[in-house]
Amino acid sequence: MKARHGTGVAVERELRLKTILVTGGAGFIGSNFVLHMLEQGDCSIVNLDKLTYAGNPANLASLEGRPEYTLVRGDICDAALVASLLEQYRPEAIVHFAAESHVDRSIAGPEAFLKTNIDGTFTLLQAARIYFGKLTGAERDAFRFLHVSTDEVYGTLTPEDPAFHEETPYAPNSPYAASKAASDHLVRAWVHTYGLPAIVTNCSNNYGRFQFPEKLIPLMILHALAGKPLPIYGDGLQVRDWLYVEDHCSALRTVLATGRVGETYNVGGGNQRSNLEVVKTLCALLDELVPDSKFVPHVRLITYVQDRPGHDRRYAIDARKLETELGWTAKESFETGLRRTVEWYLANRDWVEGVTSGAYQQWIGQNYGSRAVVEAGEAAR
Ligand code: NAD
Ligand code: DAU
Repeated sequence: MKARHGTGVAVERELRLKTILVTGGAGFIGSNFVLHMLEQGDCSIVNLDKLTYAGNPANLASLEGRPEYTLVRGDICDAALVASLLEQYRPEAIVHFAAESHVDRSIAGPEAFLKTNIDGTFTLLQAARIYFGKLTGAERDAFRFLHVSTDEVYGTLTPEDPAFHEETPYAPNSPYAASKAASDHLVRAWVHTYGLPAIVTNCSNNYGRFQFPEKLIPLMILHALAGKPLPIYGDGLQVRDWLYVEDHCSALRTVLATGRVGETYNVGGGNQRSNLEVVKTLCALLDELVPDSKFVPHVRLITYVQDRPGHDRRYAIDARKLETELGWTAKESFETGLRRTVEWYLANRDWVEGVTSGAYQQWIGQNYGSRAVVEAGEAAR
């Protein structure tokens, strides 16, 4: 890599750094990953992000002025841009997060999901294939394409079913899940047909800092703080398997370093909770952390609303392959992770203000305004 400083020490350090092209690094998981990787001090990162409503450069404001980090605003569907970035930065890996990621938005408007999640992944794979084809020696041996995917590709489980494992057949149910499943299949084909050294990870529901408040946990925190109804879809007994985002980042780092090419690895924290349990735990945490709020007890804000169409009942991840083969384990318990998350949203009101302006309010109106209230909470009536 090109030395940017005059001193021998800086040159030596920069020569040792490998470059990673991250896509979607200004989003929730991507920005946590960029920070996680740069904390280790052994790589530099080029972040290609379109900065959609979900992409927020403020997540990475702490990196301003750091030579190891470059933000490029652009679309993964732009083949010329992707090719030029590969030529310019010669990354050792591509870690692909960029996606449209919210199930409710995919139901309201699936087009963007097909465009970014399928076409965008195809564009990246093609560019990566051409770039990889020109690599030789150690650079060629080291190159990896890590595709960050979801457990939703496996469909839904009954309460009795065993957790999703890597051999579970794909059965995506939402437009979002179908688009991610399609992208996983493309990656598989590029491995088998063209020999691209790619790996796929399928992860369960993440939570933590920087999550956009359209998703369950941050949405409930912000609504509770504002004394707004806490909208539970259907009976609230759908189950998700929660993973603290920092644990997802450490899993991705592990897979990047030691995962086997052509394999898929499931990532999960072993924290199955019903949505109702999650929301009640959040309410109890807020009662404790904001005792003077006039909305205590927050649980009175719970309101049952019309269900999500095609709502998957249960997700659960069997992560034993990642744990036994690569030695990864999740570190954060759900209880401590949720407390840290609530504390982060309480301490970062500026960040919240920045993401909850006009376009966000429009989405809230669209998604919840038309949803019939089945049973309003005591305080929300
Ligand atoms: P997010 O919606 O918070 O962030 C997505 C990022 O991608 C944003 O920064 C956005 O600007 C960027 N982006 C969107 N379209 C783009 C395009 N065409 N070109 C370039 N950038 C674009 O998503 P997230 O929750 O951080 O999820 C990241 C990845 O992890 C996704 O691929 C998602 O499918 C996967 N995943 C998410 C979860 C979860 O619980 N959030 C769980 C498992 C897997
Ligand atoms: O499983 C991994 C997936 O987790 C990721 O691939 C997706 O990108 C991510 O968005 C997430 O999908 P979910 O649909 O599970 O997450 P969401 O936060 O939207 O919803 C979690 C559960 O809470 C789900 O059962 C729907 C329910 N829910 C959600 C919202 C926003 C409600 O009951 N009320 C709500 O207002």
